Amino acid sequence: KTISVVGVPMDLGQSRRGVDMGPSAIRYAGVIERLEKLGYEVKDIGDIEIEHGKMIKDEKNGIRNLKSVVDANRKLARTVEEIMKEGSFPLVLGGDHSIAIGTIAGVSKFYNNLGVIWYDAHGDLNTSETSPSGNIHGMPLAVSLGLGEPELVNIAGYAPKLKYENIVIIGARSLDEGEKELIKEKGIKVYTMHEVDRLGMSTIIEETIHYLKERTDGIHLSFDLDALDPIYAPGVGTPVVGGVSFRETHLALEMLAEENLITSAEFVEVNPILDERNKTGSLAVDLIGSLFGERIL
Ligand code: ARG
Ligand code: MN
Ligand code: MN
Ligand code: MN
Repeated sequence: KTISVVGVPMDLGQSRRGVDMGPSAIRYAGVIERLEKLGYEVKDIGDIEIEHGKMIKDEKNGIRNLKSVVDANRKLARTVEEIMKEGSFPLVLGGDHSIAIGTIAGVSKFYNNLGVIWYDAHGDLNTSETSPSGNIHGMPLAVSLGLGEPELVNIAGYAPKLKYENIVIIGARSLDEGEKELIKEKGIKVYTMHEVDRLGMSTIIEETIHYLKERTDGIHLSFDLDALDPIYAPGVGTPVVGGVSFRETHLALEMLAEENLITSAEFVEVNPILDERNKTGSLAVDLIGSLFGERIL
């Protein structure tokens, strides 16, 4: 199987500089070589071109850089769609989490029921009404469900990209009021850190696999490095204490690899400026290794 790697040097979905260097940091930590070593044919597509103007707030409803984020995600959606047409596995490197809008837009048209595992400290379920920050990286899951600014929701010309019952959030510990309401109203499946502590990661992944297997025909993994505790992943823009551990996360990815159910993936929010000697970039590569079948023994 071929893996196509595409970088998205995007920092416009939030307000801290540096996350646009995420793809370089992950490449520098050896992602391509690591995948090749596992026996995959790897195609490095390079990076999507992102405009690097000044960051502007309040273009519309206080949303930061709406137009530029729309443009970038349109390009990404087209690129991911091409990868899908070739029958290759899209592996997207961020960049802030707003790029999930484009990845999912490019992937979802190939499935009737795309499932998503959203591994994240956050829900990213805000709309312009509920967002406390105006940052689009706090909105991509809502957008993919059809909620929020029409320019974002309609990227790639169709909406919604996802159904409420086809998503599973794992690792949540920082949810805004509007996000909590939406989760309750729609019955979105969420394993917060409370459930991670209580059930353990192995039960959570078993349940997740069982749940998504019977209702989806493909599963996208949207992996935000801030799901991990900042001890393991210091190089992220919105760290939250009390996160998932290094081993719990590897276990999750090893179990997913065994089932061979993941059909596309993205690793986002690596910010080398906030990092410690590329610790978070290297972590991303280790985790990608596990997702693609690396084993300890
Ligand atoms: N909930 C907060 C917001 O809407 C933080 C979102 C953080 N998202 C992320 N992808 N790191 O601004
Ligand atoms: Mn920039
Ligand atoms: Mn997050
Ligand atoms: Mn996120």
